[in-house]
Amino acid sequence: MERIQSALNKARKARQEQRENQNREAAAPASESTQDAPLETYVIPKDMSVASREEVWKRIPAFHPKEKQLASSRIVAYRSSHDSVPYDVMRTKLLHQMRANKWSRVAIVSPSQGAGKTLTCVNLAFSLARQTNFFAALIELDMRRPALAKALKINDDCQFSRVLSGEDPAEMHLRRYGKNLFFGCNKNTVRNPAELLQGANAGKVVDEIEAQFQPDIMVFDTPPVFAGDDTLAFLDQVDCVLLVAEAEKSTIEEIDKCEQELAARTNVLGVVLNKCRYLSKHEEYGKEYS
Ligand SMILES: Nc1ncnc2c1ncn2[C@@H]1O[C@H](COP(=O)(O)OP(=O)(O)OP(=O)(O)O)[C@@H](O)[C@H]1O
Ligand SMILES: [Mg+2]
Repeated sequence: MERIQSALNKARKARQEQRENQNREAAAPASESTQDAPLETYVIPKDMSVASREEVWKRIPAFHPKEKQLASSRIVAYRSSHDSVPYDVMRTKLLHQMRANKWSRVAIVSPSQGAGKTLTCVNLAFSLARQTNFFAALIELDMRRPALAKALKINDDCQFSRVLSGEDPAEMHLRRYGKNLFFGCNKNTVRNPAELLQGANAGKVVDEIEAQFQPDIMVFDTPPVFAGDDTLAFLDQVDCVLLVAEAEKSTIEEIDKCEQELAARTNVLGVVLNKCRYLSKHEEYGKEYS
């Protein structure tokens, strides 16, 4: 893990130096790194009061999974426990950076398949929603291999792709857990995911959902970056990304290339190293957020 971290730091440093040299040559001021931006704490202001938001959110159909069912999908952050700690730490660090920059939309991405994006997203969303008076939304954009509804044990016909295509209103395909967390999931795969994500309607739909329900944060579960152009095309709609890498599988070159692609388009919050087998006391359950 330290080897990966130090290799990534080295690659970032080299890129930073290269950028600085280019900037010096162009006699232009060096660009600011969002990672180094001074951190301040404040709450993202919202127009609607908590009570009004609760009222509006009641329009979204609720679902009531059993805790055992969630646990069988490795969803652990719906309550505070030893297992939720890594996700709670991730939540705190993520919110700190997002609030400091007034960001409200984050995409969870990975270079290739199966790194743990969906599991990270869903646990992060539950962890966020355990905060009182905090409203969180998780939208699934991976319509080639949708997995969220299955993980959450949502059995009815929710198909968020129909909202993206403009065919149905959002309430029809969103599902609410408790008062302050909703999910946009897909039961079935769709034939044209790239067109749905790249179409002008995707941005409009996300803006409308944000205006209507005013979540404090919108988390997006995405397809793998190198599996197509779906994710990169959607990055215009988010403020930042969190990169999930799979321990012992994602290579340093792959992570670095992915980070470069992402950094050219949006703000990269950090790298989650998922599925670690060798843990220090402080990194139990296999995650590090750096
Ligand atoms: N930290 C972890 N510990 C154990 N198993 C994990 C962990 N993270 C993910 N998994 C398991 O790995 C598999 C892939 O995880 P997940 O579906 O979250 O990945 P993904 O990146 O969303 O995949 P895809 O690219 O197909 O969308 C799942 O079976 C999940 O339960
Ligand atoms: Mg997934």
